[in-house]
Amino acid sequence: MKKVLSGIQPSGNLCISNYLGAIKNWVKLQDTHECIYLIVDLHSLTVEQKPADLRNRCYSFAAQYIACGINPEKSIIAVQSHLPQHSELMWVLSTLTYLGELNRMTQFKDKSKGKDKSINLGLFSYPVLMASDILLYQADFVPVGADQKQHLELSRDIANRFNTRYSDTFTLPEPYIPKEGARIMSLQDPSSKMSKSDTNDSNYISLLDNPDVILKKIKRSVTDSGTEITYSDKKPGLQNLINIYSSFSDISVDDIVKRYEGKMYSDLKVDLADIIIDKLKPVQDKYNILISDKSELDKIFKIGRDKAAYLSNKTLSKVYRKIGLIKSIK
Ligand code: TRP
Repeated sequence: MKKVLSGIQPSGNLCISNYLGAIKNWVKLQDTHECIYLIVDLHSLTVEQKPADLRNRCYSFAAQYIACGINPEKSIIAVQSHLPQHSELMWVLSTLTYLGELNRMTQFKDKSKGKDKSINLGLFSYPVLMASDILLYQADFVPVGADQKQHLELSRDIANRFNTRYSDTFTLPEPYIPKEGARIMSLQDPSSKMSKSDTNDSNYISLLDNPDVILKKIKRSVTDSGTEITYSDKKPGLQNLINIYSSFSDISVDDIVKRYEGKMYSDLKVDLADIIIDKLKPVQDKYNILISDKSELDKIFKIGRDKAAYLSNKTLSKVYRKIGLIKSIK
């Protein structure tokens, strides 16, 4: 089976765009691929975190992965920091990465814009750690959003460079772009994507929002001043709501538009809120059970770590041998 690897940073709140854009596909891929899903806590450190929040979010994100359908018996669910191999391989890869390449990363440029003294080295070397995550497991496919494609291309370039210099070692990873699935945009500003780290929580619907909050956020979401329900780029707010509706209900955009002919925006909004509430209910129920037992989650992390360690040790020892590091005796 081909390998799939992906990860989410435990920062902010997992929201419906993470579900529709990533986790929903991760669940499907479990049947056809060997999957590794990481909680990339080391990546989160590039932005200052409150220690207690970070700790809670690692558990919470894992519980949400599982509640959404990631099955720890089928897939590897692992916490990045439980596997020192990630940081070790990162060092080696950093010696094969050029400053010019990292300087070209648009995410780094965006995140460091307007700052000078407070840009930390981790933010700059972030893509090398991501390359390490991917190459360590010899991943064939990496499901990522458009904003991460450049990082994935860098991973390929680094892998290629290593393979050329030292002989074939790394699988060259390819992006996995799901066929369906529209980009989910912010509820208050449909020109930017819905982000789990948005400081304004009216912009997103968290997977753990309660029904009242969901209804309120959808009702208050930005739509244009017209009245007719049509799907067009001229009505980006409404278009976004229809996309969310379609993704959650599996009803096509055309059918939704037909269904709401002559109806008001508010009709669509109320129905959409109901659909989201119904979809999230079983996820939230399962989540509440999982999160109440951290020791069970610790066990899942241990199983994930052991499986991941087996795979990553194989790659790491091969790398160390090929570059000329000597082995220490047992
Ligand atoms: N950088 C990714 C993001 O912010 C998260 C990530 C870290 C990742 N390591 C990864 C994604 C490896 C895919 C594969 O979305």
